[in-house]
Amino acid sequence: MLLNILISFLFWGFAAAQCNGNTALCSRKYSNVSFIGSHDSAFVGILPTDNQLLSVTDQLNGGIRFLQAQTHLKDGALELCHTSCIEKDAGTLISYLTTVKTWMDANPNEVLTLLLTNGDSADVSLFGTAMTTSGLSTYAYTPSGQLAMSDWPTLQELITAGTRLVMFLDYGANTATVPYILNEFAYFFETAYDVTDKTFPSCALDRPSGSSGSGLMMIVNHFLDLDILGILIPDELAASTTNAATGTGSIGAQASLCYSTWGRVPNFVLVDFFELGDVFTAQDTLNGL
Ligand SMILES: *[C@@H]1O[C@H](CO)[C@@H](O)[C@H](O)[C@H]1NC(C)=O
Repeated sequence: MLLNILISFLFWGFAAAQCNGNTALCSRKYSNVSFIGSHDSAFVGILPTDNQLLSVTDQLNGGIRFLQAQTHLKDGALELCHTSCIEKDAGTLISYLTTVKTWMDANPNEVLTLLLTNGDSADVSLFGTAMTTSGLSTYAYTPSGQLAMSDWPTLQELITAGTRLVMFLDYGANTATVPYILNEFAYFFETAYDVTDKTFPSCALDRPSGSSGSGLMMIVNHFLDLDILGILIPDELAASTTNAATGTGSIGAQASLCYSTWGRVPNFVLVDFFELGDVFTAQDTLNGL
């Protein structure tokens, strides 16, 4: 009797395996899951050039599964710099990727997405080298070819295969050179960034220009900038309203607008200061959880 209970308890433990913290997400295709992402995840601090208050590890521990980061070249190496390495240099790409690798090692049921920008048009092989040097490439997912939205594996399939990292680069990807660094705009469209209207009144496609958006996953740039005499800085004081789940200017409100525009909800919503507001309630709502 006791043994039976023990066995069923163990079995239940296995059967209820979770994907990104929720059993219900295991059978969902990657392309049908909504993720809140940290915009400029590497720019951590309290200066106007910072977009996050918590470190990348704390972002991941806090529940973020989509990291966006900006890269620039400094003396021939990829560094995480904000617009330029004089303005803000958050260290090497290798060190950033090593942080992510360490976290993934310790969290085997989590699917992560990484979107890097390539501000100085560095050769994709430099990104590939940073990926292999950090060890993060061991988790990278390589599609068999260009995937349609309906072709994506489920979260469980990605986890089972050990390919739990999906990686995109905004410009300069070349899968003939590095097969797992995917071209962002072959898979996504984005809404406009540097929004300064706190009501976030649009879900229109901004990039790639000229695209209809059909067949592409959706990235919504839901971080508010403050315009100070033409200089844009992250509006931290507004973050708890911007990052709210519901209400004017919230994630939920802009996502509703996206739903009425596109007939589907955003795949990714990028935010600043993710721990302010209620971004994971918004994420659950988008996922119907
Ligand atoms: C997932 O599929 C449902 C049902 O078709 C849809 O309502 C929802 O918008 C989709 N989510 C994403 C992120 O595509």
